Amino acid sequence: MFSLRRFEKSDIRDLFTWFETEREALQWAGAALSWPLRRSELIDLIKQHRGPEPTREVWAVMRGEDMIGHFQIGLNRRLRTAGLGRIALAPPFRGQSLSAPLMNLILGQAFSHDWVHRADLLVYSHNHAAIRAYEHAGFVHEGTRRESTPIGDEIWNSHMMSLLRREFDKRTERE
Ligand SMILES: CC(C)(COP(=O)(O)OP(=O)(O)OC[C@H]1O[C@@H](n2cnc3c(N)ncnc32)[C@H](O)[C@@H]1OP(=O)(O)O)[C@@H](O)C(=O)NCCC(=O)NCCS
Repeated sequence: MFSLRRFEKSDIRDLFTWFETEREALQWAGAALSWPLRRSELIDLIKQHRGPEPTREVWAVMRGEDMIGHFQIGLNRRLRTAGLGRIALAPPFRGQSLSAPLMNLILGQAFSHDWVHRADLLVYSHNHAAIRAYEHAGFVHEGTRRESTPIGDEIWNSHMMSLLRREFDKRTERE
């Protein structure tokens, strides 16, 4: 249904149109990216996806010729972990149960590195669609970073969720 290709500089403009407000951008990308979103920050991330042992992978999710999704994987060889992040579907593709095939693709890529034993991520506690998608994919809620992220007159909580390789393998066996 979907395929992967490397996210390129030429995709940045398109990706940025998916997030129209600071809240949307923060919910998607976390506090490490500036608002308004900056092209140079994405270019710095793309540069990490280089060489035989990249520290980050930056992917475009394709349906035919169209980029319909995006995600990144932070790779830590010392800890043998894959930190998933910046997961998104383009707005016209949300709310159609496409998060399940998207998560299959993301997890397939993360665990394709045979040394990865754990995939984890942070998600804001009000982001119900994302949390449901991660739970369906087998992720377990480990804990909450309370009042981790001030924005305007609110402070958001973030949940840490993870999936271990043995849980991923079990899930894959069942399918
Ligand atoms: C996160 C994201 C990829 C999920 O994809 P999606 O297309 O919205 O989700 P789906 O249609 O596959 O639905 C997944 C689950 O969430 C539920 N859901 C969808 N929208 C929802 C909403 N607004 N409120 C509550 N639940 C919702 C669905 O019912 C489904 O659960 P179910 O199978 O138990 O019924 C997408 O919402 C997105 O791109 N969001 C913006 C970026 C973002 O927040 N990324 C997460 C960063 S951590």
